[in-house]
Amino acid sequence: ISPKYKFFREQGLRPERQLPSALIIGVKKGGTRALLEFIRIHPDVRAAGSEVHFFDKNYMKGFQWYRTRMPATLDGQLTIEKTPSYFITKEAPRRVQLMNPSTKLLVVVRDPVTRAISDYAQAISKKCDMKPFEQLVFVNGSIGSIIDTSWGPVKLGIYSRYLTRWLKFFPLSQLLFVSGERLVLDPAIELKRVQDFLGLKRVVTEKHFYFNSTKGFPCLFKSEGHSAPHCLGKTKGRSHPYVDPVVLQRLRNFYRPFNNHFYQMTGINFGWA
Ligand code: A3P
Repeated sequence: ISPKYKFFREQGLRPERQLPSALIIGVKKGGTRALLEFIRIHPDVRAAGSEVHFFDKNYMKGFQWYRTRMPATLDGQLTIEKTPSYFITKEAPRRVQLMNPSTKLLVVVRDPVTRAISDYAQAISKKCDMKPFEQLVFVNGSIGSIIDTSWGPVKLGIYSRYLTRWLKFFPLSQLLFVSGERLVLDPAIELKRVQDFLGLKRVVTEKHFYFNSTKGFPCLFKSEGHSAPHCLGKTKGRSHPYVDPVVLQRLRNFYRPFNNHFYQMTGINFGWA
């Protein structure tokens, strides 16, 4: 609990729930949980802890319902929510615009090849009788055939396609693309960009992070609800299955034109091979 929050509570001022003014809309397996946990260290940020799935699954419940899912805030605090499936939900851009056309949108992106494997690693952890990645990636299950673009883990990596939909409703300046790779290598740099974009003071800095060599990821010294250093849970930073390098190359070649299109659209070269 921040000193400011405590102060207002002591003054008898009731915090109120607000609809979010910023959303982490994607992408699944990009590093969305890490970004949410890192930005919510900021005393002027309050976040919904779990994914609310409002703009995809719960939209019919209405904005009042959505608001009740949000944490209470004080004047000047920003409300944020993350549900990575928003990025790929057809109706989401229109719905978010309807809620508030000045909503700030954060998208964590990651090399689509690694992202696909991460997605598969998550799926297989829930359903162990899945076919190997190398089979699922191709239409006929073999390297000789074409890439199966209808398979979720592959399809989701065509970021330019989904971004096109968002840009029909929001100017590019209202979106911030966070590099999933840099969020691991140098979280403080990405957090600086995020805080600037959200109009926040630069409070979250390198001081908050340490690299945990057992986990292999940056972890936090302390954050909301934790007084001790801690890392994200076991489901974040899973080990990936071995994938045949020939298959990896086929996937890289497949994504190259889409990645280039995405770099053009965003004005950022993410450097995916
Ligand atoms: P892997 O589990 O494949 O390594 P999301 O939260 O969007 O589902 O993304 C999960 C991914 O976040 C993880 O994928 C991991 O690579 C990445 N990540 C980024 N920063 C992390 C951190 N500090 N700790 C753990 N995972 C992190």
